[in-house]
Amino acid sequence: MTMKCILVTGGVGFIGSNFIKSLLSDNYKIVNLDLLTYAASLKTLSELKRKKNFIFIKGNIGDKTKINFIFKQYKPDSVINFAGETHVDRSIDSPNEFINTNILCVFNFLNASLNYWKKNQTNKKKFKFIQVSTDEVYGSVDTGTSDENSNLSPNSPYAASKTAADHLISSYFKTYNFPSIIARSSNNYGPYQFPEKLIPLIILNALEGKILPIYGNGKHIRNWIYVEDNVNALKKIILNGKIGNIYNVGGKEEVTNISLVKKICKILDQIKPRKNKKKYEDLIKYVEDRPGHDKRYSLNSKKIKKEIKWKPRINIDEGLKLTIDWYLNNKSWWKSIRKFKYKGERLGRKLK
Ligand SMILES: NC(=O)c1ccc[n+]([C@@H]2O[C@H](COP(=O)([O-])OP(=O)(O)OC[C@H]3O[C@@H](n4cnc5c(N)ncnc54)[C@H](O)[C@@H]3O)[C@@H](O)[C@H]2O)c1
Repeated sequence: MTMKCILVTGGVGFIGSNFIKSLLSDNYKIVNLDLLTYAASLKTLSELKRKKNFIFIKGNIGDKTKINFIFKQYKPDSVINFAGETHVDRSIDSPNEFINTNILCVFNFLNASLNYWKKNQTNKKKFKFIQVSTDEVYGSVDTGTSDENSNLSPNSPYAASKTAADHLISSYFKTYNFPSIIARSSNNYGPYQFPEKLIPLIILNALEGKILPIYGNGKHIRNWIYVEDNVNALKKIILNGKIGNIYNVGGKEEVTNISLVKKICKILDQIKPRKNKKKYEDLIKYVEDRPGHDKRYSLNSKKIKKEIKWKPRINIDEGLKLTIDWYLNNKSWWKSIRKFKYKGERLGRKLK
């Protein structure tokens, strides 16, 4: 049997690189297209490059010529799109890049994928285009949960750009029968996450004795999923997901930001006590809230559990321990990012 080839875009980023590592050990051939923006670490890429069956191409998902070349050359069996601008705070400071990457570039990529699928006679029937989307498209939910049929009500430029892409992709299924699937996961955390996102930011600030910023009153609620659980869901969706469908992929529990940060502090107190004997919690500082900050996300993932037999395995306490251990053991991965790319400064305040 010939080895399956998957085109993965944005695979040098956080979730994409975890996904590729998992797929390579399952004996797939991976073609990874990534623009290597600020969010991509060259260390992650050099680790991936050591693996067999891995081909890296630097480029933009919006570059039609390059995409057409990749389709012609490698004839992928399926495509999964992780490429995107992903940080809500940055979307508040510069929405342009989010509209450009998450909508316009996705539009070009979708058209090139549609053309490939239409012309491709060898694996047309099995081809799938998976769009990696987010629970943020549903907006804030005060009570109850968001299922796949809930209204879309995005509140940040990031979430709005992802919602636009979801609409485009659904329209291509309805209009052209293009075999697409949308996976909407909740907040991911784990190894290789760029330290602008809450969990790695808090871990690294704590290790460096810096303040641990909590936006607003800290009572905002998120449903966290350990990245390995999301990777397993995406792998199952590629194999068994039904085309034209949307699948929510949520983690085991919902927690407030303040209780999440306190959990991280407690784990660090145990495994890496501060030299001055104080508690890490002493570094917590409440700061100005994020504009448009969604109060609560709550994903209903019954559909994927029932139809594809996936469920999350790692609870928040286990996942945080694994994540903290990884950051403690992989300083060479994040030290240069903290020094040269992002030092932990506040992003995404109200435009003055
Ligand atoms: N991280 C989360 O919690 C989360 C949750 C739900 C959904 N998502 C979605 O999952 C996907 C991956 O998220 P992540 O956290 O791994 O992101 P990330 O920011 O860590 O990585 C994004 C990657 O995309 C690449 N990229 C950006 N623009 C590109 C372009 N035009 N062409 C090619 N490559 C490009 C970057 O170089 C980077 O390697 C995103 O689409 C995001 O919206 C993320």
